[in-house]
Amino acid sequence: MPSNEEAYDNLRATFQESSSENIAHCRAVCEEIAGMLSPGTNVLDIGCGTGVPVAETFAKAGHNVTGIDFSQTMVDLAQRQVPKGSFIKADMRMYEPPANLVGQYGAIIASNSLYYVSVDETVTMVQRFTNWIKDGGVVVIGCGIILLPNGEVPPFDESGWKDSVETTFLGQKVTLTFGTMDVWKKLLEKFGLRLVKIDTKDITFNGGGEQHIVRKSYLITRKSTD
Ligand SMILES: C[S@@+](CC[C@H](N)C(=O)[O-])C[C@H]1O[C@@H](n2cnc3c(N)ncnc32)[C@H](O)[C@@H]1O
Repeated sequence: MPSNEEAYDNLRATFQESSSENIAHCRAVCEEIAGMLSPGTNVLDIGCGTGVPVAETFAKAGHNVTGIDFSQTMVDLAQRQVPKGSFIKADMRMYEPPANLVGQYGAIIASNSLYYVSVDETVTMVQRFTNWIKDGGVVVIGCGIILLPNGEVPPFDESGWKDSVETTFLGQKVTLTFGTMDVWKKLLEKFGLRLVKIDTKDITFNGGGEQHIVRKSYLITRKSTD
């Protein structure tokens, strides 16, 4: 079975084209956040994919964007599509920002990229985000759940998570982790990220001979200054 990294290399640009609704939803959230930041804010885009729309939106608004992704294909595509951003091939689980930027990011966006790590790794990533973000900075988590063919939400484990589920997405085998809104909220609060807003939408994806409806949510938080 290919790894998540190989699966995304196979998907290449088709991911960006798989759902215009997804791009529009994500762009609207990013435009709202970009407008909340002072000019020239340092923004970290975790699992940047093609660079569109997340890095593109923050770069257009005049912010300094760094995107990381473990797929070289995605990093190259993002750099081509968003020349003002800086893109680095890195696995988020190992990535360490430059020492002078630790605690200095004004925004960290993980849009639909924490699906690809386990629950334990998700907890560690959220903890690391709180170390990297400055007080009052914005952390945004884009997450969701693939709905069953009858449109219902599949059952979660008692813990409120579904850890490392093997499935297919746009015709590629991937391993994905899902959580209920309650477990996400608890996790973010545990690390001092105060919930500002949740923006949820059901989004249809088409590609690789498959159609999926994903109930997508963006949890917009700020690092508490208390
Ligand atoms: C569904 S795409 C989302 C892309 C973009 N953030 C967006 O919302 O449009 C997920 C991205 O996360 C990347 N990714 C998954 N696991 C990763 C990891 N451990 N480290 C870095 N990138 C990862 C994938 O290569 C892919 O480009």
